[in-house]
Amino acid sequence: MNILIIGATGKTGRQLIKEGLEAGHSITALVRNPCKLNEQHPNLQIVKGDVLDLASLQEAIPNQDAVLCALGHKRFFIKTKILSKGTANLIQTMTKYGVRRFICITALGINDSRYRLGLYYTLFTIPFILYFYFKDKSLQEKLIEKSNLDWTIIRPGQFIPGKKRGKYKHGLKEGHYILTKLITRADVAHFMFKELADSAYLYQKPGITY
Ligand SMILES: NC(=O)c1ccc[n+]([C@@H]2O[C@H](COP(=O)([O-])OP(=O)(O)OC[C@H]3O[C@@H](n4cnc5c(N)ncnc54)[C@H](OP(=O)(O)O)[C@@H]3O)[C@@H](O)[C@H]2O)c1
Repeated sequence: MNILIIGATGKTGRQLIKEGLEAGHSITALVRNPCKLNEQHPNLQIVKGDVLDLASLQEAIPNQDAVLCALGHKRFFIKTKILSKGTANLIQTMTKYGVRRFICITALGINDSRYRLGLYYTLFTIPFILYFYFKDKSLQEKLIEKSNLDWTIIRPGQFIPGKKRGKYKHGLKEGHYILTKLITRADVAHFMFKELADSAYLYQKPGITY
């Protein structure tokens, strides 16, 4: 398949590239700064673009079979709309070019998974550190749900460094109200490609943790 990866220079995005190339897909990586991605592979194409710049998406999106999104940033203490605005631009461009399959990472703790990132996140991290970020992620999910795309929202637990284990839990009730459940980015990438292959969670928002 032809697959576009958003957030390709990020930690999860790089795992998505690796997983996609290993599976034999033709990967396009959307990057703001091509110098950040040194990887070379005959099936990897790098396209410069910014999700906040609608026009820059026009080159990358046509002819894709699916878009996998690992967009993120660290401007936690500023009220930004990077995730929601960027996703709105992706939805608009995908709709325009008839690219329907969209698999996007948000997080456990958002919207109807509220409180399921554990007590520490519920009482401290989300209200005091991730408040604006999670508001934006909440809006991001709502835009995806309202779209006419064939979407799946992937809600990971807290990321930990580590390799792909290929063994993890996923489901609509994943997460825990007291404990913070963990997952590696490599296994999230594995799960996203599994979802791409079997569409087991079409129009749903599964969590993924160990
Ligand atoms: N950390 C956790 O425990 C955790 C848990 C659950 C879910 N998540 C979510 O998982 C997602 C991926 O996380 P991560 O740690 O892999 O993220 P990351 O390493 O911070 O990567 C974020 C990616 O988004 C790109 N990006 C930011 N703004 C952009 C823009 N305007 N246009 C195009 N690309 C842009 C970045 O590009 P540049 O390299 O150019 O900046 C980077 O490639 C995030 O949404 C995160 O919130 C994280």
